[in-house]
Amino acid sequence: MKLTNVVPWGRSFEEYQAMFELSDDDLNKKILGCGDGPASFNVDATERGSQVASCDPVYQFQVGEIRRRIDEVYPEIMTKVRQDADKYIWESLSSVEHLGGVRMNAMSKFLADFEAGCQQGRYAEWRPKSVSFLLYP
Ligand SMILES: C[S@@+](CC[C@H](N)C(=O)[O-])C[C@H]1O[C@@H](n2cnc3c(N)ncnc32)[C@H](O)[C@@H]1O
Repeated sequence: MKLTNVVPWGRSFEEYQAMFELSDDDLNKKILGCGDGPASFNVDATERGSQVASCDPVYQFQVGEIRRRIDEVYPEIMTKVRQDADKYIWESLSSVEHLGGVRMNAMSKFLADFEAGCQQGRYAEWRPKSVSFLLYP
């Protein structure tokens, strides 16, 4: 998929667990999530008793700004996935609609947790020097 800007798009705890093959032992260690964006891994893992800190350029924005940007880009991403649906392997996610539901659920969970997580030091803004990050093009 070709995107002209970095977009907020977040995975669930289960997707992270599968993607990084996280064992119970791993989840008992301190975890730093780099580029976690609006994933729900931090909030889900915290609820399960893990110690997670996330860093991402998008955390420089207010929760309302991140929500607005998610709402803006979500239809565009879904359209692009739908156009090329036959190029993806639909195993853990059964359809484009299933993908959209899982991702939106993860991002909604992140948004609901973001302010409390910032106060608790679980989300930290990260501004890489070499990358110009544009939430609003
Ligand atoms: C598509 S999202 C994926 C979020 C999460 N990792 C997931 O898999 O659900 C990509 C994230 O990378 C972040 N990002 C982009 N450039 C970055 C950089 N140079 N350093 C750290 N994070 C970056 C963006 O802000 C965005 O939140």
